Amino acid sequence: MFRKRKPSSAIDPQQLSLVEYAQERIAQKTWFHRHLLASLFLIFFALIANLAFEYKAEFMPFNTKWSFALATLLGALLIIHFLRVYVFYSFMGNAWETQQMEFLLEKQALKVEKLKRNMDKEAALKASAEWERENQKTNITMIAAAAENNALGKDNKLIWHLSDDLKRFKNLTKGHHVIMGRKTFESMPKALPNRTNVVITRQKDYTADDAHIVHSLEAALALAQEDEQPFIIGGGEIYRQGLAYADSIELTRVHADFEADTFFPEIDPTKWREVWRENRDADEKHQHAFSFIRYEKIKA
Ligand SMILES: NC(=O)c1ccc[n+]([C@@H]2O[C@H](COP(=O)([O-])OP(=O)(O)OC[C@H]3O[C@@H](n4cnc5c(N)ncnc54)[C@H](OP(=O)(O)O)[C@@H]3O)[C@@H](O)[C@H]2O)c1
Repeated sequence: MFRKRKPSSAIDPQQLSLVEYAQERIAQKTWFHRHLLASLFLIFFALIANLAFEYKAEFMPFNTKWSFALATLLGALLIIHFLRVYVFYSFMGNAWETQQMEFLLEKQALKVEKLKRNMDKEAALKASAEWERENQKTNITMIAAAAENNALGKDNKLIWHLSDDLKRFKNLTKGHHVIMGRKTFESMPKALPNRTNVVITRQKDYTADDAHIVHSLEAALALAQEDEQPFIIGGGEIYRQGLAYADSIELTRVHADFEADTFFPEIDPTKWREVWRENRDADEKHQHAFSFIRYEKIKA
């Protein structure tokens, strides 16, 4: 037998109303089936009784037509019940449909509101990232000259001499911080003039004339934080670490391969975008063709 169960309070109110409608419907049908069985039973017996009383009519004290009347009455009640349950009752009536529609519209409106809020948030984030990009104070730049095979140097020395590249290096870095590894610093005759030299070493007692000594790349960048364009000038070990911090790369690509022991890291095209390039041919002052290339980090 179907029993009405009290639905849990955790159920969604819409689900709850649907369950209640279904319960009501099942109860209606159950009652109709019981009515049908009881009526058929009574009609059957009424008709049997009618036949029996007609057969022995002379012994009966009353008119036997009552059983036909009873059967007709039960039949009529049964038909009315049938019509109410199966014809006139509409399970999901107009009121229910309207209520469901209103509920769905309300739900949609909430979803649209949420989407709008998320879009506003995304737009705000985008705007703030753009603002940061535009108003960024420092442009940490790695400057290097690397061969096609990324060769940088051998035996702690540069491999080539390209006078225009040196000129460009001097022009770009003049007046700025130049951050370098201890080995690069020692590969030069002295600290670079007209620049703030910052040397990175793990040796706690390391000292040098005309240079600041720090013990990490982060410390070097902190020292240069007031400089709007500090330069990371090498060598290979420092470039590898610098990729994570740099905003741009000024690369002189020398169009040849060289034997080397120090290499520039690969430039990942998904993280770096080439924004400018100038090609130079080899000539009497330049033994190799080369290109000045500027990369900018792609910011999310
Ligand atoms: N082609 C170019 O544009 C270019 C530019 C610059 C240099 N180079 C060449 O590159 C070569 C030198 O590069 P390299 O890779 O051998 O050496 P490097 O990067 O110049 O210096 C490495 C040294 O820096 C210090 N260091 C590195 N990471 C550190 C950290 N996280 N914390 C503290 N100290 C750190 C260590 O010094 P300590 O050992 O003292 O602890 C390490 O031995 C040379 O051949 C040079 O000519 C080429």
